[in-house]
Amino acid sequence: MPVAPFDFSSLLPAGLPPAAAKWNGAARYNFIGGNNDPAQIPVDALAAAATAVLTREGPTLASYGLKSGPQGYRPLREFIAGKLKRDAAIACSPDDILVVSGSLQALDLINGVLLARGDTVIIEQDSYQGALNRLTRLGVNTVGIPLDGEGMRMDALATALQDLKRKNIQPKYIYTIPTVQNPTATIMSEQRRAELLRLAGEYGVAVFEDDCYADLVWDGRRPPAIYAMSQSANVIHVGSFSKSIAPALRVGFIVAPWAIMSRMLALKTDAGSGALEQMVVAEYCAPHFATHVPALRKGLRRKVETLMETLNEQFGTAAEFEDPKGGIFLWVKLPDNVDTMKLYQAALKEGVAINPGNEWSTDKSHSSSRLRICFASPTHEQIREGVAILAEVCRREFGVPTRSANVEKARA
Ligand SMILES: Cc1ncc(COP(=O)(O)O)c(C=O)c1O
Repeated sequence: MPVAPFDFSSLLPAGLPPAAAKWNGAARYNFIGGNNDPAQIPVDALAAAATAVLTREGPTLASYGLKSGPQGYRPLREFIAGKLKRDAAIACSPDDILVVSGSLQALDLINGVLLARGDTVIIEQDSYQGALNRLTRLGVNTVGIPLDGEGMRMDALATALQDLKRKNIQPKYIYTIPTVQNPTATIMSEQRRAELLRLAGEYGVAVFEDDCYADLVWDGRRPPAIYAMSQSANVIHVGSFSKSIAPALRVGFIVAPWAIMSRMLALKTDAGSGALEQMVVAEYCAPHFATHVPALRKGLRRKVETLMETLNEQFGTAAEFEDPKGGIFLWVKLPDNVDTMKLYQAALKEGVAINPGNEWSTDKSHSSSRLRICFASPTHEQIREGVAILAEVCRREFGVPTRSANVEKARA
């Protein structure tokens, strides 16, 4: 006799996020998520690194944390410290670094030690969905600060801080993605970074610097990290190898003063992030990172040029965007009557997946006609074909663009 499956639903506590949907495979034209270019994964060198490091140090896998302790594989932390000094002007030692399972774990640890339900944080108005969703789930209020071509606007930040003070609300942190912002791809100037620190100091607020795209500035030159510019150790800096090597590796890191690092370490109860990934990344990076990343950037730049060209051909003036300063995303504004949530649903039926703006913003009226396009993972051909289909769907659903490939089309 068949046995009825056990019913777990009555056991679930209140407040869980909604159930996850089953994965049915990626869309044919996949412009969503923060995926990278499959053609640019250094497979042979990663395989060689894995063989070399395992042959040399394999027996250390017998201990949790290898022989490096709970903060992560020491040679990886040494590489990160050197890289941060070279690229971001951060002076830190391997002891100031905690290796985590992707920077998403950093978000959870930082939120875990700093936030409680009802707290307030300041965040760029258009921001990373993973950060926004976490804050919503925690019951934390967000104050969105508009951006311009130089990132978060400091006049708006000053007003928001003043406003909150007047209401007796002490924000817990200012969350910023200053170096190739997600989704706008802007870079906060050094002057603005200094002003942000001045304001944070004046109002006694911590700064959470999420710098996971910092390796992907087209010309390789970036302003110093906010962490490096702080005189008062009020910044927590987060980085990742997801965008510079591969997101599936799940290797990220936190740089923070020990006072707060020690609290995060106490919350990181997974007995260490994946050891093989850490070993392979360290072994690969020491000889290859400096040449791999410029080649990756070059390939990504070519892809965004294909994307911008195709958008111009297919959408004409209906698609507005700034030439991004680096990264893997283009943030596109369509005419006000286009609801990108509906566009997303209609396009998905035709095999084209896009990220609708509302999921990437604190201000739904600002973002409902915007969309984010990841150009790193599709091929050039998929970019051309996918954007052409997207334009057809948009025309059918919303009557724009009226022109395509310089040919006037009858309104649907
Ligand atoms: C701003 C930002 N932070 C963090 C992450 C998470 O990255 P990972 O956990 O792969 O390091 C992403 C991924 O897209 C991101 O865009």
